[in-house]
Amino acid sequence: MMSQDRKPDEGKAARVSAQPGHVRNEAIEEMIRVDHAGEYGAVRIYQGQLAILRALPNKKELVEKLEHMAKDEEIHLARFNEIVNERGVRPTAFAPVWHVAGFALGAATALMGEKAAHACTAAVEEVIDEHYKHQVDRLDSMGAAEKPLRDTIEKFRLEEVEHRDQAIAAGAREAPAYPLLSGAIKAACRLAIRISEKA
Ligand SMILES: [Fe+2]
Ligand SMILES: [Fe+2]
Repeated sequence: MMSQDRKPDEGKAARVSAQPGHVRNEAIEEMIRVDHAGEYGAVRIYQGQLAILRALPNKKELVEKLEHMAKDEEIHLARFNEIVNERGVRPTAFAPVWHVAGFALGAATALMGEKAAHACTAAVEEVIDEHYKHQVDRLDSMGAAEKPLRDTIEKFRLEEVEHRDQAIAAGAREAPAYPLLSGAIKAACRLAIRISEKA
């Protein structure tokens, strides 16, 4: 996900970091920035879904399921909050947008019905799985120094895959207009990823 306008090594040269033990690396800062933004978006999606579903009757089981997934996202976000601070990464300027858009996506899909809410989870997690897989491969090629970050992302990736599988098992693919809904959500997530890496 490199921008085309950047020359290969420009901007990626190691700079001395304020934090001992880490050289600053723009590619890694982009990874941390986008993951931090993504986990924030995930928390907001679940908050949006839960705001609707808690107000509806007979949704106790679903609410509990979503609360469990939301808890995982809060843990992911808390860890990325720490990493952003430890490594002095500038957070995305788009946080206020993801604050609103994440919640709106969650609320809108929950209003469409239980299966649409699961379709939202499945679509988001599918994109995140791809995204994290790509990052793990890149970090693997960077050697031992970035192993802790690589392991954190891999651990989170496996949890996202679990969320996706749970959503599919709960009937995500039976949501009305599933291919259209899923395609639109995935496209929006991929766009959000590209924006949050750079901005
Ligand atoms: Fe997450
Ligand atoms: Fe997740």
